[in-house]
Order: sequence, then C-alpha cells, then structure tokens
Amino acid sequence: MSEQEETLSSRDFARLREFIHAEFGICLSGEKKTMLEGRLRRRLRELNLDSWGSYCDYLFSEPGQREEKVRFIDVVTTNKTDFFREPRHFTFLAEQAVPEMAARTGGRALLVWSAGCSSGEEPYTLAMVLSEYAAAHPGFRFRILATDISTRVLEKAELGIYPAEDAEPVPQALRRKYLMRSRDPEADRVRMVPELRKLVEFRRLNFMDADYGVGAIADAIFCRNVLIYFDRPTQQRILSRLTQCLVPGGYLFVGHSETLHDLHLPVEALGPALYRRIDGRA
Ligand SMILES: C[S@@+](CC[C@H](N)C(=O)[O-])C[C@H]1O[C@@H](n2cnc3c(N)ncnc32)[C@H](O)[C@@H]1O
Repeated sequence: MSEQEETLSSRDFARLREFIHAEFGICLSGEKKTMLEGRLRRRLRELNLDSWGSYCDYLFSEPGQREEKVRFIDVVTTNKTDFFREPRHFTFLAEQAVPEMAARTGGRALLVWSAGCSSGEEPYTLAMVLSEYAAAHPGFRFRILATDISTRVLEKAELGIYPAEDAEPVPQALRRKYLMRSRDPEADRVRMVPELRKLVEFRRLNFMDADYGVGAIADAIFCRNVLIYFDRPTQQRILSRLTQCLVPGGYLFVGHSETLHDLHLPVEALGPALYRRIDGRA
C-alpha cells in the first residue's frame, strides 16, 4: 500500500459504513473507523490490493458482491461469546420455561433458536442444558436451530472444537459428559461429543432478510448480544420478524444490556432481558 493510501479516507469509510448498515443492519459509529481499518488490512494484503479505494471498488463490483461480501461480513462482525454466558437465562430455561412448555407441547419436539449464535458456545450450552432435562424426563424431545450471518463462525461452530480454557464456565459434571479432550496433549483443546453436535442445526441467516424461513414454530429464541449492533428502527424490524417466529407463549431472551422498552412488539417483560409472546399478532 502506498504512503498516501495508508489510512482509510473518510469517503471510503462512509461508503463502507453505508453498505454495512444497508446489507447487515449494523451501525458503525465514526469511532469505529480505526477498528474497521485494522480488521480489513489483512484482506487487502490477501487480495494483493494496494489501496482502500481499490478494495471498495472491488467489494462493490459484481464479482466482489459475489465473492468478497461473505468474507467482508466475517471481518465486520463482533463474535465475542462464551459457554454459559449470562447463566441465569439457562437456569430459568431449565427450571421454569421448559417444564411449562413441555406440558403444553403435547409431546412434539421443542424448538429453541439461538439467533446470532456466533461460534456455537450458546447453542451448545442450550444443548447441554436441554439434554440434562431430557435425561431426567423421558419422552421430552427438543431441537436447536443456530443461525448467524458469518460463515467463518458457523464453520467453527459446526466443528465444535474449542481451546480447553474456553470450556471453564461449563460445570465439571457436564464437561465430563459432553466434552472430549483432544488426543494430542499439546493441543489442549476440547470437542463437543458427536451426540451433542447432532442436536444442533447450524444455518446461515441474515437478520436483514425479508423472510427467515423458520415459520411461527420456535418455543424460545435466544437473541442475545446482537441487538446492540443495530439502531432502533432496525431493532424494531428484526424483533417484529423474530417474534413472529415464536409460538404464542414462547420466550424471548435478549442480552442483559439490551432492552425492548419502547419497541412495539407482542411481548410482555418477565424479568431482566426476558420476554414472552403474548398473542397471535405481530
Ligand atoms: C456478540 S455475538 C453474540 C453471540 C451469542 N448470542 C452470545 O450472546 O454470546 C453477535 C453475533 O451476531 C451476528 N450478527 C451480526 N449481524 C447479524 C445479522 N445481520 N444477521 C445475523 N447475525 C448477525 C454476528 O456475526 C455475531 O456472531
């Protein structure tokens, strides 16, 4: 990259920012320019491009929209996640929501959706919690749908391999049952057991899509630490669609720093970051 092209110009940042907002709903403030630049620099090197202008031209070209857009979103998204993140939600799910939902589903498999699942820690936590419930309640069946826009994190999620230290929040008893140690002692990695991996269906989904292809069949949706990246009108649009996918009485879990206050949605607040669909309308 030549000297004068070393920093992303305000004009190119504005182009990228508008594109990110329109395509993925994500709002980047002006302060995020350095972050975006840092994350994208590697792509420029990999593509052998010598300026930000040529990267933008490529991204917005027809082949760029076909090939680079998917890589670009990997760079733009923030994928921080953990096993048993915000653990009170999982306690509520196992102790209150699931027994109540199981009683009214008449034996059909419960569907729990991790919407914005990142690298899989959230849906695998759900799979462990629900498997424990199933072991104690014969006849109880469930499915987990896990979606994200980033193919990079979805590939990692499907593999289900993590550094051993990332699994520390998983209680010992569950670790013994659901995590396998890598055979290579040097590697210090764990993998979710195949029986658990089979319980989760990973799918690519952009919340900006007009149709989520899910139907009104989810008993609970975990959409946590995702809404913070969107502005209020986008949150309203996304949550209207998400709540349409919930069965009446279905639960919606959001991140603890996220609130649905002043959005128009068919839900009632039950507790911190916890909502429930109240009627059949969207
Ligand atoms: C911070 S992670 C949250 C992961 C997990 N839910 C948790 O709470 O630990 C946010 C995720 O939302 C995804 N995301 C961002 N914009 C999206 C969009 N437009 N459609 C679908 N997923 C999106 C990102 O790729 C990222 O993996």
